Amino acid sequence: MEKKIDVFFEQDKAIAISVISILQKGNECLATNYTLDSYLNGDNNFVKFIIAKIDEKYAGYIIFKNVDETIDLEYILVDEKYRNMLVGSKMIEKMLEYAVQNNVKNIMLEVRRSNKKAICFYEKNGFQMVNIRKNYYNDTHEDALIYNLQVK
Ligand SMILES: CC(C)(COP(=O)(O)OP(=O)(O)OC[C@H]1O[C@@H](n2cnc3c(N)ncnc32)[C@H](O)[C@@H]1OP(=O)(O)O)[C@@H](O)C(=O)NCCC(=O)NCCS
Repeated sequence: MEKKIDVFFEQDKAIAISVISILQKGNECLATNYTLDSYLNGDNNFVKFIIAKIDEKYAGYIIFKNVDETIDLEYILVDEKYRNMLVGSKMIEKMLEYAVQNNVKNIMLEVRRSNKKAICFYEKNGFQMVNIRKNYYNDTHEDALIYNLQVK
């Protein structure tokens, strides 16, 4: 039987952070230059959380930041058990709906050059590479590829 995928915005930041921590613990999670806690503090009013559930189990999340006409996609993760079932694409779709409703013109993200899976996923979902940041990541000094999606 086809699994039911629910994708929704979690407005309660503390709940979102606890779901995200659980999913991160169960999955190999590439470091970003930001900690999860930093999204709870500071200018966190710009930060939004999308959560996906499959058959009532937490399956994935997106963290993004929206300031004016731009969204920065901070992180996307789908639990290994649920990959390649379009959970990631459905969460991107939800973010796009938000973008259209909120007059967002561009969605930007950065990805490690070595993360071929994610690069393929982003390109399938309409993102195009626009720039390269050399030695970007604090841990490995790997390059970041910058991708953009223009919202129509
Ligand atoms: C990238 C990620 C979010 C994709 O989520 P997902 O739910 O598996 O993606 P979808 O099922 O929507 O897949 C859509 C497309 O992505 C691509 N893709 C997904 N997994 C892939 C893989 N293992 N190898 C190559 N391409 C892959 C495919 O092109 C797929 O399209 P297809 O089914 O038509 O072939 C998921 O693999 C993940 O959580 N990775 C680890 C965390 C990560 O790297 N996040 C990005 C940090 S920048």
